[in-house]
Amino acid sequence: MAKRIDGKAIAAQIKEELKEQVQQLAKDNITVTLAVIQVGQDPASCVYVRNKQRTCEELGIHSLSYELEETTSEEKLLSLIQELNAREDVDGILVQLPLPGHINEKDVLNAIDPAKDVDGFHPYNVGALSCGEEGFVPGTPAGIIELLKRSDIRIDGKECVVIGRSNIVGKPIAQLLLAENGTVTIAHSHTVNLKEVTKRADILVVAIGKRQMIDAEYVKPGAAVIDVGIHRDEANHLCGDVDYESVFPVASAITPVPGGVGPMTIAMLMKNCIESRRRRL
Ligand code: GUN
Repeated sequence: MAKRIDGKAIAAQIKEELKEQVQQLAKDNITVTLAVIQVGQDPASCVYVRNKQRTCEELGIHSLSYELEETTSEEKLLSLIQELNAREDVDGILVQLPLPGHINEKDVLNAIDPAKDVDGFHPYNVGALSCGEEGFVPGTPAGIIELLKRSDIRIDGKECVVIGRSNIVGKPIAQLLLAENGTVTIAHSHTVNLKEVTKRADILVVAIGKRQMIDAEYVKPGAAVIDVGIHRDEANHLCGDVDYESVFPVASAITPVPGGVGPMTIAMLMKNCIESRRRRL
């Protein structure tokens, strides 16, 4: 039987540690500030943005909220980013994705000062991760590494298979596992014989975006399984890319959805904001 990795509890512990760090900085009159920009009212984005703001409050991080109309021009958004780049008091700038179709996402992400890019989406930070230099790592993959470490799951020398090759999760988690000396394979929608590939994994990271697709047949007995997916099942309950009931008896450790990777993403974002302030002191 697998050990259920409690992401909610681990994230709570990290947030406590971060709260103490914020309080220490406050003693020297140093505040940490995150600016969150949302364009339009995508319902999922509204939930994510609210969660980020609430977590800022919990930790004592100052948050600035910019809720722009769906019809906001790219020019206007870029000029807001320039203004925030120039502000000494702003440590992190986060533009919630997805953006409306008339705005070029790449142009927007490239406009953020890499030193304030707490989402780690700017090409500078993507490159820094790739060559092992100091930068910002996106919250979800950073959170996965933290979950593994705090659950005493060794990465060094292990077969790690990542399913999914997105810029936000698949590619950066592969880089991080490699940096931890894992033997890393990235599988994706064109992979032939996916089950054969995933069955090699000691650590299987699933970020495919297909509801409950990965069942016990894809999993080597004793593997640690990390589920990055988030969906709703027929009963409207949250579920992941992994069929939890099927995989639980086979794996040695598994993250649930909800309460696995999800809570870690925001905790790591907050960590990046504090880190940004420290680096710019
Ligand atoms: N949309 C979905 N996930 C994310 C994220 O981690 N950051 C931002 N900015 N937008 C997102």
